[in-house]
Amino acid sequence: MSPLCVGLRKSVIAFAIITASAALCSVTGVAPAAERKAADKSDWKAPARAARKKNPVEPAKASLDAGKKVYAAECADCHGPRGAGDGPGARELKEAMPSLADSKVWAQTDGELFWKVSTGRGDMPGFDDMLEEEDRWHVVNYLRATFGTKAQARRGDNRASQASARGGKSE
Ligand code: HEC
Repeated sequence: MSPLCVGLRKSVIAFAIITASAALCSVTGVAPAAERKAADKSDWKAPARAARKKNPVEPAKASLDAGKKVYAAECADCHGPRGAGDGPGARELKEAMPSLADSKVWAQTDGELFWKVSTGRGDMPGFDDMLEEEDRWHVVNYLRATFGTKAQARRGDNRASQASARGGKSE
């Protein structure tokens, strides 16, 4: 083989390697993964169907008492006694804890809160296989009654009933 040809082949191989590694980089894409994480953090939304789900449990005293027990046993360690996100377990988490007294929480329907408690995300465990469905509604009732202001609690209730009035199925 002539020296010219060898040189040519070398550069063809080099070109192929560069092209291949460029393609590989764009497939494994470090940057897009980081962007995805940022998007996740900013917005945790329940699916519309879950948001429309109607709370089947009246927030009567028995439910609030049951919810209080669940909260103390399963949630206070991270969310803190007043829902401020200052429980002892929260100190070990890397993620910032949301305050359960935040109006952003209360703008959500019971169905949305129920879905979040059931599904979890990141450091927030999903309780669908740890708590009975009824206990998850009790704790949602307890959260709204305890950490939302009265006005916020009312707004949340309205939103939930408006959603069901718009034709949301109560399943
Ligand atoms: C191990 C710590 C931990 C425990 C235990 C825990 N949470 Fe959370 N919770 C979190 C974290 C962290 C988030 C924020 C998750 C995110 O935004 O990705 C969160 C988010 C939430 C949200 C959503 C708030 C919003 O911004 O919409 C609700 C509601 C909630 N938790 C309720 C509960 C309830 C009820 C329990 C107990 C049954 C509980 N959590 C137990 C850590 C915890």
